[in-house]
Amino acid sequence: MKQDLERYPVPDPGVPHEVERFTDVDEAAGRRAYAQVVGLLALVPVLAIAFVVVYFAVPIDAQFVLFGALFKAHPVLLGLTGGLAVLLVGVAAIHWARTIMGDEEVVEERHPAGSAPEARAAAAEAWKVGVAQTGLGRRKLIGSGIAGGLGILVVPALVLFADLGPWPTAALRKETVEKTIWAEGVRIVNDVNFKPLRAADLEVGQLVNAQPINLQELEGVALQQAKAKASLIVVRMDPASIRVPESRQDWHVNGILAYSKICTHVGCPISLWEQQTHHLLCPCHQSTFDLGNSGLVVFGPAARSLPQLPITTDAEGFLIARSDFTVPVGPSFFERDSSRDFKEGDR
Ligand code: FES
Repeated sequence: MKQDLERYPVPDPGVPHEVERFTDVDEAAGRRAYAQVVGLLALVPVLAIAFVVVYFAVPIDAQFVLFGALFKAHPVLLGLTGGLAVLLVGVAAIHWARTIMGDEEVVEERHPAGSAPEARAAAAEAWKVGVAQTGLGRRKLIGSGIAGGLGILVVPALVLFADLGPWPTAALRKETVEKTIWAEGVRIVNDVNFKPLRAADLEVGQLVNAQPINLQELEGVALQQAKAKASLIVVRMDPASIRVPESRQDWHVNGILAYSKICTHVGCPISLWEQQTHHLLCPCHQSTFDLGNSGLVVFGPAARSLPQLPITTDAEGFLIARSDFTVPVGPSFFERDSSRDFKEGDR
């Protein structure tokens, strides 16, 4: 004992005297607390339904002004209804635990970690007592309210799946992710000043970041989406130093070739160009493409060659596309057909 006092000079104050809660001593207060918990839970389905109604009924671009600031109605109302529903479940659970559940204070003596069968039986008995103390046996509405409230919250969560977009059928993919604004006759322009590129102005070893001239006709989201797919790099190499397969003989102009600027790994824009080796290096994960050999992957995690854009010149000598890309640009996606990608040994 003396040793303990030296080591722990502050005496154990013990468990403080239990103060009874107002809901334990006042039966009417207990009933009021019960009604409050049920009331809170009853609001949850109302808010969940309101969430679904807002999702479908409020126009996506509706706005309102509050305190001089402009807000988008759709996300604000969804946040309010969905957030309040979850909050009410939490508030009801806390209120229930603090005012209705059993409030008995217990002291658990330390014992060996491995429980004896008697201890396990005692624990099971204590669990039953605990369940009885929750009041769920007598006040079934709370249990039903929580189960129903949480259950119905699945509905708003499921509704949000609609935001994943339409089902990507082959026809839809063909008009969206597998299509760019490149087309026959579209001029290739400099990415910075939007001036058309004249074949005669490009020097051997030069790389130019480029875009289709019709990108200027777009704006907003449509512009960003089109640019993300159509971005191009144009390089000029000595025709004697590159390999051009039979099927792509008319895809270049005296060693000027055009490739997608979007890495086929996970879509980073690329333009780190090694003039001597004709290699193009992606800065994200070091995939390396051989632009002197149809964009084949020579290193790194990219699994597909860089899509090449067939090009030629118009009557004024400006570079133009012969068509859109012949394969989808950018990273792979689940339904993508990779059979038409250029591979080692293709002619
Ligand atoms: S995005 Fe280019 S290597 Fe990963």
